[in-house]
Amino acid sequence: MTIKTKKDETPSVTLHDKFGRALNSLRISVTQRCNLQCFYCHREGEAASKNEMTKEEIAKIARMACEFGMKKIKLTGGEPLLREDLPDIVREIAEYANEVSLTTNGVLLEKYAQTLSKAGLKRVNVSLPSLNPEHFRRITKKDCAQQVKDGIKAAVQSHLHPVKINMVVLKGINVDEIPKAIDFAQEVGAILQLIEFEPIQPENYVHWKTFHYDLVSTENWLKEKAVSIQENPLHKRRRYILEKNSSPVCVEIVQPMHNSTFCENCTRLRVTSNGKLKPCLLRKNNLVDIVSLIRKGASPDELREAFRKAVMLREPYWKRRNEELQLAFA
Ligand code: 5AD
Repeated sequence: MTIKTKKDETPSVTLHDKFGRALNSLRISVTQRCNLQCFYCHREGEAASKNEMTKEEIAKIARMACEFGMKKIKLTGGEPLLREDLPDIVREIAEYANEVSLTTNGVLLEKYAQTLSKAGLKRVNVSLPSLNPEHFRRITKKDCAQQVKDGIKAAVQSHLHPVKINMVVLKGINVDEIPKAIDFAQEVGAILQLIEFEPIQPENYVHWKTFHYDLVSTENWLKEKAVSIQENPLHKRRRYILEKNSSPVCVEIVQPMHNSTFCENCTRLRVTSNGKLKPCLLRKNNLVDIVSLIRKGASPDELREAFRKAVMLREPYWKRRNEELQLAFA
């Protein structure tokens, strides 16, 4: 089988799961280490792990994903910028992916934004749970609010567009800050994503009971203020365009988990930092260990088989009744 690998070429093989969902993006956790300790963090659905992949292993997996048409690659963590070889990883993957993006907590972003942009990074999502230094410390246990704000500005200046600010909304902590966050996003030229707190890790649940805030009322408020509303056809996420002093700012609402549409439209495969293909954010019991195969010197065909196996294990987590679902995907 010949598989084309170069950028922008139509892939000769696209993987579809049993529900007809085509895979087009890969989300790679490059480390579980983090320099913040956000109490709400879902850690990408991963259990703590130390056995990180090398940059060569990451590149090999990303290259194979691109061969299979997963040409949008997102690097996540933990905190990816704790890896000093991150610019090298980006440079390598940008050779064959259509889009390399990054999710970061922004603490080290000011230092790296320019280098990453030159290495081929296209865009970035930055977590900013609060603009208020005290609240930021309460949420993350660290005093880095200003560093993160500077990181966001550096990302905009380095053209890592669109820069998206991720704000997990927490009852009793940052709900009142939403208007200020909108102003900040507008001032720096970023998009604000307001994210509903989800108890993905079991240990999150106790915090979820205290801090979960339903974004319905925020959404109603945005509806009234918006000059236009768009809907992302893939996730059915709404985008509210607000205007202040004749300049626009975009606010998105992210409430994926209550939404079976999220699963219906999921085109994403994940890789854990210790080298396992993860078919679903919300499941831990169907991982496919690909890095061990690489370490044993497996052939490209054996690695391709691991991808196919992971894709075949994909099953919507939030489903309607099974039969309805099969119909929806038919
Ligand atoms: N619920 C919702 N969003 C979360 N994030 C992290 N933990 C949670 C959670 N429990 C978001 C952060 C981060 C992104 C990768 O996921 O905003 O930027």
